[in-house]
Amino acid sequence: MRSPPEERKLQGRTVTSPSAIEAAGLGEDKGRSLVLGIETSCDETAAAVISRHRDGTGRILSNVVRSQWDAHRAYGGVVPEIAARAHVECLDAIIGAAMVEAGVGWPDLNGVAATAGPGLVGGLIVGLTTAKMIALVHGLPLFAINHLEAHALTVGLTDGLRPPYLLLLVSGGHTQLIDVRDVGRYDRLGTTIDDALGEAFDKTAKLLGLGFPGGPAVEAAARHGDGRRFPLPRPMIGRAEPNFSFAGLKTAVRTAATAIAPLSEQDVADIATAFETTAAAAVVDRVRRAMALVENRRQVPPQGHVLVVAGGVAANVRLRAALEDLTKGDGWRLALPPIALCTDNAAMVAWAGAERLARGDGPDSLDAPVRARWPLDPTSPPALGSGRQGAKA
Ligand code: KG4
Ligand code: ZN
Repeated sequence: MRSPPEERKLQGRTVTSPSAIEAAGLGEDKGRSLVLGIETSCDETAAAVISRHRDGTGRILSNVVRSQWDAHRAYGGVVPEIAARAHVECLDAIIGAAMVEAGVGWPDLNGVAATAGPGLVGGLIVGLTTAKMIALVHGLPLFAINHLEAHALTVGLTDGLRPPYLLLLVSGGHTQLIDVRDVGRYDRLGTTIDDALGEAFDKTAKLLGLGFPGGPAVEAAARHGDGRRFPLPRPMIGRAEPNFSFAGLKTAVRTAATAIAPLSEQDVADIATAFETTAAAAVVDRVRRAMALVENRRQVPPQGHVLVVAGGVAANVRLRAALEDLTKGDGWRLALPPIALCTDNAAMVAWAGAERLARGDGPDSLDAPVRARWPLDPTSPPALGSGRQGAKA
């Protein structure tokens, strides 16, 4: 008979350094598990070690992220083959750095977790294969993690927040509203029918001749602009289903820019501001709709209704302010993990693995596959009118 996962993991543990005992708190609480996480689904190579306590709280012992922006900048976007090669080149060193920074050795770990999808297949193979090798060599349970689930559960690590809550995931590859009912129970309420929000930021930046990655560049330009000069269409506003669409907005930006080319610095700032304010207004409208759906679905939970925001676009100050406003009063509050944990990182992957370990869910077998697409809610119908690239998950 197998013992419960947390106990099983503690058997035969050898703690290699006094700092590890202190850092991981193993001396005071044997109910703590340590998980190594690996993230390689896009253009960030990341490794992290986290601890999860018996009471469900967690701590980050190390969180190492290396971005590949320089490798992709010349192409104005992420090139999958370059990304995969860059992951191969530095992943071992990143994992080594995460282990050293955490002050732990292999025997201290209770599990290894790696993103298995959705994402770019080449990169996913690099990360998952490395995790499998570590699991095999060190006799650790392997967790093949859904990247979206890792984003969805991050607030458990950062804020000690447990489901249920409403999640707005806004990144370069995803724009989704998910009702996180419990760990492992996700209902997708809405998704983008064409571009992801981060993708729209990146394409707008490219169009305006701003840098890569586009989000921060558009945001910087939008600080000095007058958004009223270019009225842009507000996609999907008022629709019953909380889906998103950003392709039309992007086209409207192109039309506005082409009409007045060549663009002065002020023109760029004004268009960037118009794009950012319109996108934020569209997101607010869709989230408001999802909040109403959640209110209809369940009583106010003991912690109140919570809107959690994750993904790289959560760094956008204008969007954050708009969401703060939206959740003021009415029994709602906003939970925003620190920006470094909103963007892609491995602490969230390790945490998702630790949650599964704690629930006795898994481990996965060493032939677990990578998946380019992996919806968090397999029962959700495809969003109507899915565009050329479809909903990315
Ligand atoms: O979550 P993330 O790091 O990677 C994935 O796409 O999974 O998100 C990256 C995206 C990019 O599209 C980037 O342009 C956008 O987040 N982003 C921003 C900002 N910072 C990053 N978008 C708007 N404003 C920002 N400050
Ligand atoms: Zn992500």
